[in-house]
Amino acid sequence: MPARVVITGANGYVGCVLYDLLNSAYDLVLVDNKTGDDPHNRFGLETISPPACSAKSIIPIDLVEERIKFAYLLDECKPDLVIHLAGILENQTPDTITRKNLAINTNVVELCAEKGIKLIAMSSVMVMYGAAMHNAKIKSILERKAIAPLSEEEKIKLNDPLMNTEEAITEFNPGKSEQNFAYIKTKERLEELAQTTVRSKPGLTIAIIRLGWAGIRNPYALEGEDTKFTETSVYLDQIDLRSFMLKLLEAILCGHIEGYHCYCPISKHPQSWISLKACQEELDWEPSVDIIEKYARPADLALTFGGSSQSLLTTSTVNPCEP
Ligand SMILES: NC(=O)c1ccc[n+]([C@@H]2O[C@H](COP(=O)([O-])OP(=O)(O)OC[C@H]3O[C@@H](n4cnc5c(N)ncnc54)[C@H](O)[C@@H]3O)[C@@H](O)[C@H]2O)c1
Repeated sequence: MPARVVITGANGYVGCVLYDLLNSAYDLVLVDNKTGDDPHNRFGLETISPPACSAKSIIPIDLVEERIKFAYLLDECKPDLVIHLAGILENQTPDTITRKNLAINTNVVELCAEKGIKLIAMSSVMVMYGAAMHNAKIKSILERKAIAPLSEEEKIKLNDPLMNTEEAITEFNPGKSEQNFAYIKTKERLEELAQTTVRSKPGLTIAIIRLGWAGIRNPYALEGEDTKFTETSVYLDQIDLRSFMLKLLEAILCGHIEGYHCYCPISKHPQSWISLKACQEELDWEPSVDIIEKYARPADLALTFGGSSQSLLTTSTVNPCEP
């Protein structure tokens, strides 16, 4: 029997990638409050059109308002794992973003804990920008004054206390800082909730992914003149997103990791300031895409989805625990 995996927010960008990656080897149950071709709040950047997962029906559940319906679904389908992607970033007021994301995350984390279901939940590397801005070396990288790679000791450690600050968010996201700050605070709260939940219920497994910026377009082309983002190496190419998720699923479903874990997967970049140590040591995962090599050449300044010389991973390697 293939492992059963519920994906929340399945109609979004990451959901579509995961559907494509996992559908043939896992029994997927897809949940979103928007179904079919209904446009969703895809970071204002990109949608996969038509959504890959529209091939399989998505169960409509609003995770803010319909906690009981989600609880019922979990009881009915008894998944081995939930991958929690649902959330909102923009197109709503900061208060709404805060209220909805907190409700969504609380409902999903509490219900998975109550029912003893393993959980993978998406945070964001953006929760670390505050910490970055307090680090002189990182600050200078952000200001484009330094190009030296950091030593492992200098890199921000995954378990550092979350230190995002309004100042950092404002500086990093001009024009959208209020929305982004609200969003990032909800990710910080998600991480705290995951940690306290695992502490209060030993035996539970929750893996938080501080996802690098994951999209289908060339990050350099998208940014135009503003290369701050790519210079800080927080981009996660789809090829690396796929290989990372396969490793993480394998580790959790085979029981190689338990309890609370936090990973920060990003693609290769010489100015990398985020530690990949946990990804390497706990999951034996390394990124394969060098974002400068892949994206920074002028000829590539276009939509790059599907245009890579590296082929996308398929599902033939998944589910290694299956007898
Ligand atoms: N893509 C990135 O660059 C990136 C980076 C860091 C973190 N993340 C996180 O990864 C996750 C997935 O990102 P994405 O790019 O696929 O986002 P997305 O906006 O494309 O997808 C999110 C999905 O959640 C759904 N959703 C929103 N409110 C809901 C509700 N009340 N009930 C049920 N579903 C609801 C939306 O309809 C949407 O389909 C998000 O939690 C996001 O914060 C993404």
